Amino acid sequence: MEAMADLERTGRSWLTDAVIYGIYPQSFQDSNGDGIGDLRGVIDRLDYIVSLGVDAIWFNPCFVSPFHDAGYDVADYLRIAPRYGTNDDLVELVEKAGQRGIRILLDLVVGHTSIEHEWFRTELAADGPHPEGDRYIWRTDEPERGWESDLPGTPQWVRSPGPRQGWYLKNFYDEQPALNFGWVRTDPAQPWRDPVDGPGPKRNRQALKEILDFWLSKGVAGFRVDMAFSLVKDEGLRDGVLASAAIWQELREWLDDAYPDAVLIPEGEEPRTGARLAFDADFMLVIYAPHASLFDNHSAGRLPWHEPRPAFFDAAGEGSTELFLDTWAHLREVDPQRSILLATADHDFTRLRSGRAPEELGAALTFLFTWGSVPSLYYGDEIGMRYLPDLPNVEGAICSPLYNRAGCRTPMQWDDGPNAGFSAAPADSLYLPIDPDPDRPTVAAQDGVPGSTLTLVRELLALRRRTPALQGQAPTTVVNPGYPFAWLRGEDHLVVVNPRREPATLETDQAEGMEVLFGSGCDVTGDRIELDGFGYGILGRSR
Ligand code: GLC
Ligand code: CA
Repeated sequence: MEAMADLERTGRSWLTDAVIYGIYPQSFQDSNGDGIGDLRGVIDRLDYIVSLGVDAIWFNPCFVSPFHDAGYDVADYLRIAPRYGTNDDLVELVEKAGQRGIRILLDLVVGHTSIEHEWFRTELAADGPHPEGDRYIWRTDEPERGWESDLPGTPQWVRSPGPRQGWYLKNFYDEQPALNFGWVRTDPAQPWRDPVDGPGPKRNRQALKEILDFWLSKGVAGFRVDMAFSLVKDEGLRDGVLASAAIWQELREWLDDAYPDAVLIPEGEEPRTGARLAFDADFMLVIYAPHASLFDNHSAGRLPWHEPRPAFFDAAGEGSTELFLDTWAHLREVDPQRSILLATADHDFTRLRSGRAPEELGAALTFLFTWGSVPSLYYGDEIGMRYLPDLPNVEGAICSPLYNRAGCRTPMQWDDGPNAGFSAAPADSLYLPIDPDPDRPTVAAQDGVPGSTLTLVRELLALRRRTPALQGQAPTTVVNPGYPFAWLRGEDHLVVVNPRREPATLETDQAEGMEVLFGSGCDVTGDRIELDGFGYGILGRSR
């Protein structure tokens, strides 16, 4: 019975079969000529978004911010950044998108704020701890180098610029002080270690609830939660993760009553604690090895955990699906229908097109849109926008010499007009430069054109929409993990993709009685499937 209850809980129905569209608000559509995308621009493009066949939009943070980290440094959780519009614009977007069957997900950056948040300014101006408990983590004695690391995105002590004396703990950049959700281990000799139920952490948990309530009451469908499992601090990473998960479980209890349809999607994988899962999905991030082993061709840089060998979806055909499949199986262990997000790309790393010719995208997109995941299509990937190398460090895009995120954040390429239709601003005042390639892909050039990437995306998503077996819930069973990669969806659909340049053949009983419903360079005769290089096919039973 309990297992059933869990299934129901994690089965918030719309998400399990949904397709998400990821919008980096800076770069989608500028409506007022200031060179930066905005909500009005998104409202103006809603018909286009609907035409793709997606069900929800996930926006990167669009709240008031000094943008040291592209808005992942929030200065006011309850106000849309003026450069994107107003709260009323967001409400209008929610309504107009809703009329077209599209839900809106916001990005909740709750582990840290901006140094410009009023909470931080107040504590910085004080001469000691807040009487009701500090919202941030302060210490007065000189920190020794300890559990923190130099990797970008890990907590470190930062010397306070004053007036308050001492150091504060940051989460990512120095401008992103960690909010105080307490520590797993307390120690009287280290008074900054508040227990999780200390007064400061309690204030912050209350604020978190208020932020959720504020936006959910405006009709927002839910949140992607930034660094969701880094709220509670501990020297042992795992314990901090577990304690953070407990905070979300408590929040979920409240959501179950207050907003039972609200969806929470973590940045990353929710730890399996044995307790009910608080989030509605896991997110296999493009930056981590299981996803990167399929798609990353190292355009955006090479991170310590990235293998030197080619991705599986690579013309050389020297990759492997093993790591991906192992991780997938592990995530599904707890619940065979657990929603797992798989993105084409995101604002933190590369793009699907990186290192790939357009003709290579068919196999990758067929996989991403017919695997039993919740696909997330990153804006621009539907036309095969490129990752642009060597761009300047705009809004904290460059995390380390190894790692530049600007290349996957460039303006959407709509047409052949000025600035590719993104903005009426002078080219040198755009948020980031437009791909200078005269042959850069655009929506206008691909719209309605048979065989274009845009048409393929629309066709695949339309097929997925009318075929329940290709959506999130139906079982996904691997038939061949190598080249060609083949898997069954439900009992009557077999998907085969050949990401490499060389042709590939597969003999399998599963193909008996099947025909190609959709595909390119794919033939089936009896139990034998033949695929051209870069071929793909979705097979079904002929009746
Ligand atoms: C997440 C975001 C990333 C941001 C970081 C700090 O990883 O995806 O863009 O820089 O959190 O908030
Ligand atoms: Ca604008």
